Amino acid sequence: MEDAKEEIRARLPIEDVVGQYIELKRAGRSLKGRSPWGVDKTPSFMVSPEKGIWHDFSANKGGDIFAFIMEVEGISFLEALEKLAGQAGVELAKYRGSNNAVTQRKRRAREAIELACKYYQFCLTKNQKVIQYVFEKRGVNKGTVTDFRIGYSPNTGRVLTDFLKKRGFKKSELEAAGLLNRFGSDMFRGRMMVPFIDTNGVIGFTARILTKGEPKYLNTPETLLFNKSRFVFGLAQAKESIRQNNYVVIVEGNMDVISSHQAGVREAVATSGTAMTELHLKTLSRLTPDVRLAYDGDEAGMKATERAIMMAGDLGVNLSVISDYHGVKDPDELIQKDPRLWKDAVKHCRPAVDYLLDKFEDKIDISTGVGKREYSDKAVGLIKYIHDAVEKKHYEQLIARKLDCSVEDLRAKKVNQPSTKHFKKVKAAPKTDQLKGIEDNLHALVLCGKVSGIEGLELPSDKQKQAELSLIFEQKYKGWDQGRLTEEAHGLFRRYQVEKNRQRRAELNEEMAAAEAAGDEKRADELAKQIAAIKIN
Ligand code: UTP
Ligand code: MN
Repeated sequence: MEDAKEEIRARLPIEDVVGQYIELKRAGRSLKGRSPWGVDKTPSFMVSPEKGIWHDFSANKGGDIFAFIMEVEGISFLEALEKLAGQAGVELAKYRGSNNAVTQRKRRAREAIELACKYYQFCLTKNQKVIQYVFEKRGVNKGTVTDFRIGYSPNTGRVLTDFLKKRGFKKSELEAAGLLNRFGSDMFRGRMMVPFIDTNGVIGFTARILTKGEPKYLNTPETLLFNKSRFVFGLAQAKESIRQNNYVVIVEGNMDVISSHQAGVREAVATSGTAMTELHLKTLSRLTPDVRLAYDGDEAGMKATERAIMMAGDLGVNLSVISDYHGVKDPDELIQKDPRLWKDAVKHCRPAVDYLLDKFEDKIDISTGVGKREYSDKAVGLIKYIHDAVEKKHYEQLIARKLDCSVEDLRAKKVNQPSTKHFKKVKAAPKTDQLKGIEDNLHALVLCGKVSGIEGLELPSDKQKQAELSLIFEQKYKGWDQGRLTEEAHGLFRRYQVEKNRQRRAELNEEMAAAEAAGDEKRADELAKQIAAIKIN
């Protein structure tokens, strides 16, 4: 894989890769632009074509072209590799040993499903019934039909299968793409076709019946390409807006996404129904910490919101809820009524915890003792997932006031609640990492500024990282005299230690909370001692 990386790097100049996302201007030997994470006031994004690296001084991120695509697209290394290999015209299969067969099968499945999508798009233009349904009944316009590649699957047994076979695809390849039913005929018939699109193209479909009938939606099953718990519908189309406006809206239905885009809220995506997984949330949290849920106001929607809160704390996500639908069922219907109502609803979202606390209060009579117990069970169970101490205190006080008790009373409650163990722990990278910023600067000073006398600092040995550090040095410290460099380095080192201790305390705090929640008092006690032993400043 190293060879493949080298080959891709050699073929794709970094300024071209970055230039697809950011406007770059020459500044001496480097290029300069605005941070794609929208956190700079003046251009703070540097690219060094010679070194093949970039560094974002406002977000404290940096690396090579692969790191850039991973960060900016919010995708994994392998996905970034595939994407750039495509741009560079490098055949990854050549560099792969053992999973060659899998790669080949995936590639064929992608080719088949891409062609199927084109075929369905063509069929839409030829069928009056679906044209009437899409444009008139659902109010989707031409631009949206094109952007989302909406199509129609003919209602004849195996036209698509025959068409693809004529184009050289084998039955097994169509099966792998999820295009065949168990009788070997077309999986989708007589339905409006909406493709699932990821960074590399079509991977499946959701297909809506045009009349009343069951099932309303038929979806591609799990295949080599389509993984339901990972895929976020609409993300390919929404990514740019999410990055620019720094929030994402999660709706329940795929048609809600499509209508929302058409109405100008292009930050909307959907997970399959309300079944949001931690993988979904993690993917989105890489793009923005501001996540707005637009689920139905029913029991299922509330449960989904509670589940999301349990996951949000771990991922550093700020969760809020969009709930003002003016009496209609979902965003799509609200938009049919008036697109402005939807825009307003998105703007006036409320913190998810406040929303749920109000919902609990709607259901429980808190003037009675039993009601107070029930309400506090639910409320305390909910705020356990809040990591930030100040935010947590805010809600404790709020709840205590409502129930006319004290914060200590709330804390004394033993609340049974689902444990977080159900969720796989996956940590998202924080949006801007202060510690990393300080560390980078410090390393740059020691390595390139030849500052000495800093004990116990481990320096990076990786070549690429060193190149990035020299870019940082040139940018920030060039022309400084040795005295000033030394002073700066020592100041940074102190901050570095403080920040590192702060992070360590936060980690131990989390561990302690988990031990407390699990009833392991001994462990919690031990952790408390460890926390106390760490210096704050
Ligand atoms: P809804 O029944 O709320 O559908 O299901 P909707 O989005 O409002 O659909 P329209 O407006 O009637 O066309 C929400 C989501 O649940 C999944 C789909 O992802 C749908 O978008 N679903 C629903 C299915 O997968 N299969 C079904 O049969 C129904
Ligand atoms: Mn709907």
